[in-house]
Amino acid sequence: MNELFQILGSALWFILPAYVANATPVVLGGGRPIDAGKKFTDGRPIFGAGKTVQGFLAGLVAGTFVGLLQGIAAGTLSRYLALGFLLALGALLGDLLGSFIKRRLGIKRGGLAPGLDQLSFVVVALLAASPLALPSWEIVLTIIIITLPIHLATNFGGYKLGLKSKPY
Ligand code: CTP
Ligand code: MG
Repeated sequence: MNELFQILGSALWFILPAYVANATPVVLGGGRPIDAGKKFTDGRPIFGAGKTVQGFLAGLVAGTFVGLLQGIAAGTLSRYLALGFLLALGALLGDLLGSFIKRRLGIKRGGLAPGLDQLSFVVVALLAASPLALPSWEIVLTIIIITLPIHLATNFGGYKLGLKSKPY
């Protein structure tokens, strides 16, 4: 039991910058879409209007800032700062990739894509951070498992608070 809590704690601690990077655009995003409204070769949006430059940059700054705070707390600043930046960048790129895939599948902005919506950001965040830090497989698996309910719960919370138009 104790060991389980230890793994859970390590998983949350590790992936925290990615969570913050993924959630920040919901609050601070808006404005010019990254794809500038352009269409892909299939005639559908490249990413769609839900992926904005401002949201991307705000997420990158916020996630990196979490890394900075973790570094201060842990006493190894440069490593956590770099890790926070990579996790945040990966999370935002993964979220973009998820939207790109949704558009290719013909799913409109805000449309449901179970699995993809919850996991694309976290998987690419882990990949982006892997040159610097590769957690044990137990921690990676835990991160993937806990992200599903956490993402669903926080999105529902964001919907209830009026931050999101969809509850997922
Ligand atoms: N957002 C943003 N910039 C980003 C990512 C997200 O501004 N790079 C904001 C948008 O307002 C978006 C909201 O955060 O609507 C929620 O993000 P998400 O659920 O990922 O986007 P969706 O609107 O659902 O679009 P998609 O179908 O492409 O996932
Ligand atoms: Mg969505």
